[in-house]
Amino acid sequence: MRIGILTGGGDVPGLNAAIRAVARRAFQQGWEVRAIKNGWAGLIEGNIVPLTPKQVSGILHVGGTILGASRTNPFRDRALVRSCLDNLEAFGLDGIVAIGGEDTLGVAAQLAEMGAPVVGVPKTIDNDVPGTDYTIGFDTAIATVAESLDRLHTTASAHHRAIVVEVMGRHAGWIAVMGGMAGGADYIFIPDVESSIEEVCLHVEKRWKRGKRFSIIVLSEGAQIKEIAHSEEELGHKDEFGHVRLDRRGLGETIAKEIEKHTGFETRCVVLGHLQRGGSPTVFDRVLATRLGAFAVDLILEGRFGQMAALRCNEIEAVPLSIVRTELKTVDPKLHKLAQTFF
Ligand code: F6P
Repeated sequence: MRIGILTGGGDVPGLNAAIRAVARRAFQQGWEVRAIKNGWAGLIEGNIVPLTPKQVSGILHVGGTILGASRTNPFRDRALVRSCLDNLEAFGLDGIVAIGGEDTLGVAAQLAEMGAPVVGVPKTIDNDVPGTDYTIGFDTAIATVAESLDRLHTTASAHHRAIVVEVMGRHAGWIAVMGGMAGGADYIFIPDVESSIEEVCLHVEKRWKRGKRFSIIVLSEGAQIKEIAHSEEELGHKDEFGHVRLDRRGLGETIAKEIEKHTGFETRCVVLGHLQRGGSPTVFDRVLATRLGAFAVDLILEGRFGQMAALRCNEIEAVPLSIVRTELKTVDPKLHKLAQTFF
């Protein structure tokens, strides 16, 4: 048996832990393992090389991905899909473990529907992949957000300022809600529920009257805000999956200026950006990646292609990959409501 591994989409801490788990479980079966470089681009181009036990040693705690990543979508062109299928055969791959978010796993689902021997492992700091309670990388990202909020609290309080902290989260506000809850956010904007500038300004003023002379406002980069049109067209270039670059929206800076204008309180903006995707994975992410990666190999062993390894109620289970093409996992309204208790 010979299997290939690829990592697609934005990198997350824990990818190397997952690669190590897949490879080590496969070596345990006596299988050969191939590195498919830079996501689906590697399968299209035939950029596929042997992965040795030595290469997956010492990488458990290392951020990034030793395989490289890209946002390549073979389904943008039928000829690219053909190349994927041809290379699967040419390189003698009996199975592929695709580690990715909604886009990478969406491609995996489509290839599996065409009969390709593909299984999936869910990762994204956004935690918006359906069918799994958590995705690899999310826990590390919210730990970074919480630590950043701890740091920003002391300086906001010392200078009696409001600070708007822009975090990642394209379609779902999991990072803002969970990171914000862990870091004691005073207000949270998310993509899942519309909020308004008027509302946050009233809230900041109310806190001031209560003697709280600072506020920490957490904002998802994809947040829905009543007074601000969310026109993706204006943001220009889209990636191969049709996503615009949300950092270009500059939402944090806009909201900070609006708060300062309407309340008169000095307001600053901090964009956490790719800091949320870097560094060493947390213990939770290392263990999750290890469990999901090993399970993905077991799926191949049992010939259960077209499935994704998923965490459900603390058990690792198989979920059909097709689920990623039907819906996104948006924030649990109960959790958002709970976070609002502490505003
Ligand atoms: O893929 C998840 C994500 O981290 C989003 O939250 C964010 O909008 C996007 O990636 C940024 O991607 P890039 O690094 O390609 O600009």
